[in-house]
Amino acid sequence: MENRELDIDGRSRVVVGDAQHELARLLPECRVVAISDGNIDRCHHELLAPFADVILIGTGETVKTLETAASIHRELIRRGADRATFLLGVGGGIVTDIAGFVASTYMRGVRFGFVSTTLLGNVDASVGGKNGVNVDGFKNMVGTFNQPQFVVCDTSLFATLPDREFRAGLAEALKTGIIGDAELFERIERSTFAELRTRRDRIDEIVMRSVRLKTAIVGRDECEHGERRKLNLGHTFGHAIEKCSRTMNHGEAVAAGLLIAARMAVRSGLLAQAACSRIEDTLVRLGFDPVSPVPMSQLLEAVRSDKKAEDGSIRLVLPTAIGSCEVRRLSLDALERLAESL
Ligand code: GLY
Repeated sequence: MENRELDIDGRSRVVVGDAQHELARLLPECRVVAISDGNIDRCHHELLAPFADVILIGTGETVKTLETAASIHRELIRRGADRATFLLGVGGGIVTDIAGFVASTYMRGVRFGFVSTTLLGNVDASVGGKNGVNVDGFKNMVGTFNQPQFVVCDTSLFATLPDREFRAGLAEALKTGIIGDAELFERIERSTFAELRTRRDRIDEIVMRSVRLKTAIVGRDECEHGERRKLNLGHTFGHAIEKCSRTMNHGEAVAAGLLIAARMAVRSGLLAQAACSRIEDTLVRLGFDPVSPVPMSQLLEAVRSDKKAEDGSIRLVLPTAIGSCEVRRLSLDALERLAESL
């Protein structure tokens, strides 16, 4: 695989490679404080061992809070971290979201970078400079747009991921294919779950293609005033499902949200039924149950309170083909009518 390094406007490098090797090259010569979680410390201690300062947080979406961020701020003060300190987030999307938020706010901002250890982090969460925490169960309600200096995506670390976590990342990679890379979609569509799980060359290619599309979009629209909204495909309902179901993880909820978006696109006359069926079949074949366990009425309630709802309307991302999509502004009433027609 050629060219394993991409960047966002020359400011944020995203490298697919061996974490220890890349860190030796990318870390600045200064004090580094690593922020990680107990799973990484147990399964990949070698990544944290070189650092004298390591702050560990808990695991799971429930730790992604202002309270956790404040506890890290306090720990940084206690350890005497200053404005020259570099923060290194090592973990999946939850660790990197929190570490990026802490780095963006500690002393009004210090330099930071990530080692992204999960498929979901590699293909979406850790790349692109969105950092933040949830508030009272509302996803990513408080946060910043601020680019890490680098993100190292090390696919060898996926070996210790449970199947369920790995699968969750495939939902985001499939989303990226639907948004703008038909070949990425086809590569996933043509592979079995077992092949993706075990064939490093295949997953490297999927990570690289996902990162290529995401860095290009973020480079053109970092703060989500336009094109970046496309990266939210499947997330309007995905976030609502994740919030209301309490059993589905982010990727599983996004898988169900993708199918809702595809069906809405068919109803709106934007997407051929055959393309919608390909999306559904691929999700099912990968092992997702892409049917929301939460009634639509409850999801619509959650969508109304989503941070992306503005003035009684919502921007809904709808696929128009495998490899393209468009963003439509819909009143919440129109969204409700569309949802009822499914
Ligand atoms: N996860 C969507 C984005 O980074 O814009």
